[in-house]
Amino acid sequence: MNRKEFVRVAAGAAASAAAFPFLGSAASPVPWPAPDPADESFWKFVRGQFPLAHDRAYLNTGGLGASPYAVIDAVTAKMMELERVCETGHDESLWKEIKTDAGSLLGCDAGELAFTRNTTEGVNIVANGLPLTSGDEIITTTHEHVGNSLPWMALVRRTGAVLRLFEPSTVSDQENLDRIAALLSKRTRLISVPHAVTTTGLILPVREIATMARAKRCWSFVDGAQTAGMFPFSLREIGCDAYATSGHKWLLGPKETGLLFVRNDMLDLVDAKFIGAYSDGGYDFLKGTFAFNPTAQRYEYGTVSAPLRAGLGAAVRFLQRIGMQNVWARDRALSGRLYDGLREIPGVTVLSPADESMRSAMITLAHRDIPHLMLQEHLNTFNLRTRSVNEGGLAALRISTHIYNSPEEVDRVLEGVRMAKKP
Ligand SMILES: Cc1ncc(COP(=O)(O)O)c(C=O)c1O
Repeated sequence: MNRKEFVRVAAGAAASAAAFPFLGSAASPVPWPAPDPADESFWKFVRGQFPLAHDRAYLNTGGLGASPYAVIDAVTAKMMELERVCETGHDESLWKEIKTDAGSLLGCDAGELAFTRNTTEGVNIVANGLPLTSGDEIITTTHEHVGNSLPWMALVRRTGAVLRLFEPSTVSDQENLDRIAALLSKRTRLISVPHAVTTTGLILPVREIATMARAKRCWSFVDGAQTAGMFPFSLREIGCDAYATSGHKWLLGPKETGLLFVRNDMLDLVDAKFIGAYSDGGYDFLKGTFAFNPTAQRYEYGTVSAPLRAGLGAAVRFLQRIGMQNVWARDRALSGRLYDGLREIPGVTVLSPADESMRSAMITLAHRDIPHLMLQEHLNTFNLRTRSVNEGGLAALRISTHIYNSPEEVDRVLEGVRMAKKP
């Protein structure tokens, strides 16, 4: 922990203890053990960094991530600091610092990132900003989350653009590339896919998809709600034109935070439609002249929450301290244990890919004899929080495993599923 961080954490602990004595903040400057993904005691230490209740296994990070004390303390400290003087705390150098950290996690420049409220807002900025018109075709999957389907459906209604859908294959990358290739036409302008599909956790070959899009002179957009903070990757290497994610899922940031990446050379193409203070690079109202901010900050406008942004920065630093390779090693070990265990249970079908390289830390199952909502209700009685999956016509349960989960919790899920009785 560097000095600045020590002071920040200590100040955060003091502020939150004063403001919220019931929080019992653990953000004391305890030394961190060296990260070792194979060492269970390291993960117990990490677990201790979260106020998350112990009696309930929280297995829905794909829906919402739990925040560690470091994040809560950063939010409360910034809030206390600002509420004493009633100021906004807007600070472009701090924004840049946070975006530089986030950019090092996502593999892009700070100037290519905009703060958003969630993935859905990022999708909307792209859907409304691209110059798409009547007859233009957009290729996407049949398994989209509502956050990456409704904005495109509204665009279709408004402009007469057309959606062309493919069923994502859990069998091979090549099948997915073939299915997309089969939909390409002279009118294709955009390929929009999730990095990890919300239904089955399938990881799509986004780098190859972006390359295909470029070769066909169309744009590529990646819905990254389920991947930032789950495993390491580089947006520069993926080569997509835009990518949207949430701060409040695998990144473990405060709720209602997100990041939108728009590649530098796409900024003028993705028109900023909602603008105001901070969106500009200079303006003169009386002369009627203005320029957009040269960075992705052009998509931000007006008064914002400095505490939430500070919290998102703390979340990124928290994950960086563990190391994204270690985070992925843990998430993958837990989800692999779950996948292997579920495959042994009679009546259970695992809908997530068999190929480990296509599998994320979200495992989805269906039971031959038990309707998914009934199975979810049954698991609730074991204090196991899962998420039902209805997108893409599925009727299944999704289980997310992240760094605060443990092998014991995975075993509790397996035991719970094993004990489920046919109605
Ligand atoms: C693939 C995908 N896209 C978008 C979203 C929407 O995220 P948010 O509610 O943060 O906008 C989700 C949420 O689960 C998701 O799984």
